[in-house]
Amino acid sequence: MPIKIGSVTIPGRVYVPPMAGVTDIVFRGIVRRVDQGCMMATEMVSSRGLMHRPEARIMDLAANEHPIGIQIFGHEPDIMAEAAKMAQAKGADFVDVNMGCPVPKITNGKDGCALMREPELAREIIVAMKEAVDIPVTVKFRLGWDESTKNCVQFGELLEEAGVSAVTVHGRTRAQKYSGTADWSWIAQVKKALSVPVFGNGDVFEPEDAVRLLEATNCDGVAVARGTLGNPWLIPRITKLLDTGVLDDPPEVIERLVLAVHHCLGLINYKGLRVGANESRRHLTHYTKGIRGSSQYRARLTQVTSAKEVVDILAELALEAAGTDGLARYLEMVNEYDLDNGENPDKRHSQHKEHLHAPVDVNAVLPLAKPVNTVNEWRNAPSHNP
Ligand SMILES: Cc1cc2nc3c(=O)[nH]c(=O)nc-3n(C[C@H](O)[C@H](O)[C@H](O)COP(=O)(O)O)c2cc1C
Repeated sequence: MPIKIGSVTIPGRVYVPPMAGVTDIVFRGIVRRVDQGCMMATEMVSSRGLMHRPEARIMDLAANEHPIGIQIFGHEPDIMAEAAKMAQAKGADFVDVNMGCPVPKITNGKDGCALMREPELAREIIVAMKEAVDIPVTVKFRLGWDESTKNCVQFGELLEEAGVSAVTVHGRTRAQKYSGTADWSWIAQVKKALSVPVFGNGDVFEPEDAVRLLEATNCDGVAVARGTLGNPWLIPRITKLLDTGVLDDPPEVIERLVLAVHHCLGLINYKGLRVGANESRRHLTHYTKGIRGSSQYRARLTQVTSAKEVVDILAELALEAAGTDGLARYLEMVNEYDLDNGENPDKRHSQHKEHLHAPVDVNAVLPLAKPVNTVNEWRNAPSHNP
């Protein structure tokens, strides 16, 4: 059932909420490859930072990403309003405010979850943003600051009164950070109290968890963050289970390894070799988690510095986990990728100023399909020959 967030219609009930250092344009491109209906959001962006660096690439959106929101954080209503205008100008379908981040660096400055202790300021921020933009304004928050101050219900009511079009509630307090388990019963209370759509969030790692969360909370949608790491297929599997009652199998090992290569190349193409390879390490760890015999390879994946290394290590893992047939399929699929371009991204994706305002072509961000010698060399190498 579609969800209406102000004037925006969301086809599915799954939301991939902001994750700093994760939900960049490359990750979101990967999500869109496997799911077209979910709602997504960028990593959080500092509203104050935007005043100094309005061209921040972190707000770049690709044409095929919608429905997508840009999440901003900060606590100064006028600056948040300006940042909201920038998000709107970038083409965001909605602008989300981070009122849930528990990290001291953020909360010490009254940002993130600290706003749950300053409800009047939170209200002022929303009112200022609403006046500044036409797109819906949404908020993501937690149960409260700590165990003794769980004010999520009143806080949600106040935000609704101020004009938000939807909220996402993570079922933990700021003090809990990510420990313990998310308490969905509080999310249910927020849902009961509000008229705008509520996305329940916390500890959905399997499709069945999403069904349980929605049943327990009666929420309109479910926000799934960590569960999507290395596992974007979780999103369509949830949607299918919700829509049809059918639980699809998780993807097979080779599909996971190929997407891991794809993700790594995308990061290198977009961010450059050093940063891209570095950032791909954590994703590779997730893609390989749970694959039989993968731990020794994971240790090596945490040190990779090029796409070719990734392809080679994952080829060894493909052989170990899926035998010679699996390796052959892996090589055939990976052979499609242009590893050389992945390793020389600056030719195509320079960080020069003229690129910063250009609309992002996701086909250019994600790897090109072009045969390359590297894999053939690998396939023919005596030690790897299947
Ligand atoms: C690496 C990481 C980065 C995150 N960054 C943000 C962020 O920028 N903004 C935000 O509102 N929440 C952020 N979160 C919180 C998630 O959106 C989500 O609320 C939380 O992980 C609980 O959901 P889950 O159990 O499905 O992971 C982040 C979480 C993780 C793991």
